Amino acid sequence: MKDLTPDRATLDPIEIASIDEIRSLQLDRLKWSVRHAYYNVPMYKQRFDVAGVHPDDLQSLADLSKFPFTYKGDLRDNYPFGLFAVPREQIVRLHASSGTTGKPTVVGYTAGDISNWADLIARSLRASGVRPGDIVHNAYGYGLFTGGLGAHYGIERLGATAVPVSGGMTERQVTLIQDFKPKAIMVTPSYMLNILEQFHKQGLDPRESSLEVGVFGAEPWTDSMRKEVEEAFDMHAVDIYGLSEIMGPGVANECVETKDGPVIWEDHFLPEIIDPQTGDVLPDGELGELVFTTLTKEGLPMIRYRTRDLTRLLPGTARSMRRMEKITGRSDDMMILRGVNVFPTQIEEQVLATGGLAAHFQIELYKSGRMDGMRVFVEAMPDSTDEASKNAAARMLTKRIKDVVGVSTEIVVGNPGDVARSEGKAKRVVDNRDKG
Ligand code: DLL
Repeated sequence: MKDLTPDRATLDPIEIASIDEIRSLQLDRLKWSVRHAYYNVPMYKQRFDVAGVHPDDLQSLADLSKFPFTYKGDLRDNYPFGLFAVPREQIVRLHASSGTTGKPTVVGYTAGDISNWADLIARSLRASGVRPGDIVHNAYGYGLFTGGLGAHYGIERLGATAVPVSGGMTERQVTLIQDFKPKAIMVTPSYMLNILEQFHKQGLDPRESSLEVGVFGAEPWTDSMRKEVEEAFDMHAVDIYGLSEIMGPGVANECVETKDGPVIWEDHFLPEIIDPQTGDVLPDGELGELVFTTLTKEGLPMIRYRTRDLTRLLPGTARSMRRMEKITGRSDDMMILRGVNVFPTQIEEQVLATGGLAAHFQIELYKSGRMDGMRVFVEAMPDSTDEASKNAAARMLTKRIKDVVGVSTEIVVGNPGDVARSEGKAKRVVDNRDKG
């Protein structure tokens, strides 16, 4: 793999500013943002009034903890445009998340928001090792999802060449990579595995492809998966994090020179880690729920938004700004089996550590009597599809999950292609507990 460390002279000065400078900028912007929300969004005014807090009470960054939280449900309750802080006419773009049930969550951006977003994606790409003039294959879905268009404008802002492929039509993805020779690819890690599979199907050596870096996000993935993809393609795999409610992709991005967790672009987003049960703010380094307050968003300011993502805040390394630990999971994804908390990423690690198995997997939860049971569907590698190898892999994986994660599972080892493939975010868990 090539050294893709960016030249420090090309970074935004604030990325490597002193902590004091960053905190002081944050405080100025936070005061603006809280005021902007209070005076322009009825929900915030009402919430702050009930909580007995006022924007004037915000004199230090720590004062933020006096303010109430905002939840995903608040976006639904104010569907579609009720949380916008500017007249609807000033919103130049809408995005929405599908949502598994009921109404989608709608987010809106002013021209200024869109411009900041493009800047932050450009910054994220630079951190990933992409340079002006490079070709970037963008396989994040275009449309209401923030991934495709969000990444797109940042690629252009950086001065790189965008290939707006979107997700799906995996054969064509490979053809375009072979023909256009992109240096970078932006895609969910699970879809990257499908692209990898397609390389093999077409008899191509992925290590010979032009790709030098993949910018992977939109779903949890592990360091084991990083290793898997880096080795398969002989390229860097870096983590991009974000969520629609706060902006979309590019809220945080890993630096290619360290790959030690996404750097939070703290000049635009103020992170806190809280105890999800009590709501208390936890010190840096402790594991808890990530909460974001936007510092510059005009269209849809978010004050103390509960992401439900679980991580910890870590000190800056390649940049002055703080990092977040690679996300282990969302509180929503947490399965509780006989009292043990289990995340799909823990299963991913064990699948990847077991010989003879491919990286594709899906978890089914079911009821066995009054207890919950977990079944993991995996696939044998093409060269390990005989019954003896499959049984050995199943035994090994059962033991690993029991020893490391601490739960008993039933393992079903299928043939290559048996596990449903994703074209975007993978659906890791199928919950059949109410199906008897
Ligand atoms: O997934 C935005 C995005 C697009 C990020 C492309 C990165 C790349 P949502 O659909 O609103 O937005 O989903 C946000 O996805 O709260 C996390 O639970 C999860 N997520 C996003 N990035 C990562 C990541 C986009 N790098 C939700 N690691 C977030 C783990 C991630 N989880």
